[in-house]
Amino acid sequence: MDTARFFITTPIYYVNALPHLGTFYSTVVADALARYHRARSGKDNVFFLTGLDEHGLKIERIARDKGLEPQAYCDGIAAEFKKIWARAGISYSRFIRTTEPDHRAAVIEMWQRIMANGDIYTADYDGFYCVGCEESKTEDDLIVENGEKLCRIHRTPVERVKEKNYFFRLSKYADRLLEWYASDAQPVRPESRRNEVAEFVRGGLRDISISRLSVKWGIPVPGDPQHVIYVWIDALTNYLTALGGPAAVEAGTGNGAFWADAHHLIAKDILRFHAVYWPAILWSAGLPPPKQVFCHGYLTVKGQKISKSIPATRVDPNAIADELGVDPLRYFVLREYTLGGDGDFTYEALFQRYESDLGNDLGNLLNRTVSMAHRYFGGVVNATGTLPPEQLYEVWPHTGDTHWNAHVSRMTAEEAWTDFAPSRALEATWQIVRAFNGYIEKQKPWNLAKDPAKRGALEAMLANCCEALRWAALMVAPAMPTAAKEILRQLGRSADEGTWPTEWQWPGGILEQPQPIFPRIEPEKQAALIARWMPAEATAPATGAPPAATKPAAHAADAPPPAEIAIDDFAKIDLRVAKVVACERVPKADKLLKLTLDVGSEQRTVVSGIALAYSPEQMVGRTVIYLANLKPAKIRGVLSQGMILAAGDADVLGLSALDRDVAPGTKVR
Ligand code: ME8
Ligand code: MG
Repeated sequence: MDTARFFITTPIYYVNALPHLGTFYSTVVADALARYHRARSGKDNVFFLTGLDEHGLKIERIARDKGLEPQAYCDGIAAEFKKIWARAGISYSRFIRTTEPDHRAAVIEMWQRIMANGDIYTADYDGFYCVGCEESKTEDDLIVENGEKLCRIHRTPVERVKEKNYFFRLSKYADRLLEWYASDAQPVRPESRRNEVAEFVRGGLRDISISRLSVKWGIPVPGDPQHVIYVWIDALTNYLTALGGPAAVEAGTGNGAFWADAHHLIAKDILRFHAVYWPAILWSAGLPPPKQVFCHGYLTVKGQKISKSIPATRVDPNAIADELGVDPLRYFVLREYTLGGDGDFTYEALFQRYESDLGNDLGNLLNRTVSMAHRYFGGVVNATGTLPPEQLYEVWPHTGDTHWNAHVSRMTAEEAWTDFAPSRALEATWQIVRAFNGYIEKQKPWNLAKDPAKRGALEAMLANCCEALRWAALMVAPAMPTAAKEILRQLGRSADEGTWPTEWQWPGGILEQPQPIFPRIEPEKQAALIARWMPAEATAPATGAPPAATKPAAHAADAPPPAEIAIDDFAKIDLRVAKVVACERVPKADKLLKLTLDVGSEQRTVVSGIALAYSPEQMVGRTVIYLANLKPAKIRGVLSQGMILAAGDADVLGLSALDRDVAPGTKVR
């Protein structure tokens, strides 16, 4: 067993908004890595840190706008974050808040160490500050629009700052940084990010301002309490606080011993802080740099970074989890995107993976295996009949590789998790799942069951399917802890939870009744959910650039849906009379009809889930009410442009209709 320590951190998020898909992503990746390492080397060898960045001008202002004391404001948001992370299955070792007393002590100690080393001096500062970035800006960082200076990133006006500041001698550490980047240990990953920071350092480093005179909400500078310590010095130090503070880290005592294995997971927006400023600050304080800064890309919506300040990019993990459960969303972000690159989010891709990887592959293997175990063996599958290796090879028909077996997939997954490549790890895991679905097809247990002489072969086959599922559950657990638990429960193997598979040897089990873990979501329902989740198009800025708001980011994620709507809201819904001119079934979808509608000015195609209640013949010639301005969606490969209104379900379903002849295209009010 691998007993190495593993310290993994997420950024500590600003409390200016609740989590969105971007913050969910970083946190879920870190959680999955932590869970993998725990399964490999034991709970006590892993420290997983996340939390909140509560100080600074941005937060001071939001609290003031809300008429709250900053601390009271932060307390409210912190409680919300904890609730959301609990639901998302985030298994942190500590949830740190920068307003906690031990953190304050750690920051003050860092300041004193840097000061004692001669790396802090005072000077007059005259420059610009972006509150969105919480960062000083030079002219190069700005753009000018209508004579106003804007932050290039936030496109909001920067503020002119003229005050006495404390400065940190960053410039002194340029050579040491370049040496560090060049070392074999890959301290900054991926490679492209390492090159980027090296380039930045080679371009010349300036000392940085590390205090603010006009800001109140922060940790006062020791001996000069008019100033508060710059929020980034404060924030970065959280990584030490959680391990017991600078002294514990230096001595390697207690949790301080984790520092040697520190991995900071971040996105590229804060690369410079972590890969340039932070190592220099640590050296100055007499401490070693982190082992690795791993920088992932941005999740985007239609190419635009998901961000609290751009409502059109809003994707609410909670709303998705309400319908699918949280595990499918965790699985999706881990499997869909290569860690390090950018990735565009679409609901269609989410449903696609839900249906194929989760429903058709994993869910199906579980369901048919557990069902067969009950049908043929009363739910008891003994510890006999593990496949001999030469037969295991036969289980992999689609790989075409006769040396491939479950161990190869397992080792690929191990290597991938260790290498911060969740997508690759899950892909390898799915090779096992798919292979065993194929194996069932090939073995035809329904035939074996007819012949009493083949009972042994049937039981061996089932034992191997159970083992494949047990492996799959343990191997997907970092990504989907709840689903993994449920699979193990149905297999009667709950005791195995939290371990990692090694031997291909079904240990026997008394199986529970089968229960679908990823219930099917009908295409119509998918389309309706997508329509509900999609932020109103109108809020998207026409240029695709963030709006130039002077106000801090709005609380996009926590606005509840309105209970009542006004008449102008109803006016946004374009209901029309339509006549069905043609209708056919959608191949391989027993509930779907494809309708061609005369909507007055033109013909439109609509896919509707009414095939169990209406035949195509019954539909042609009918007049229906049609939602004309529903965002088009692809359903089973057919572009559906709108929706016809109906009430009820498969048993009793009524179509909307009019009691007089009204011309197609007429508005329904
Ligand atoms: O920067 N795609 O906090 P923050 C991927 N408090 N990840 C995203 C994302 C997106 N579209 N949007 C946000 C701060 N993130 C500081 C950090 S650390 C000592 C202090 C994630 O609330 C990503 O991890 O702005 C990014 O680095 C982080 O949220 C920024 O969070
Ligand atoms: Mg940010």
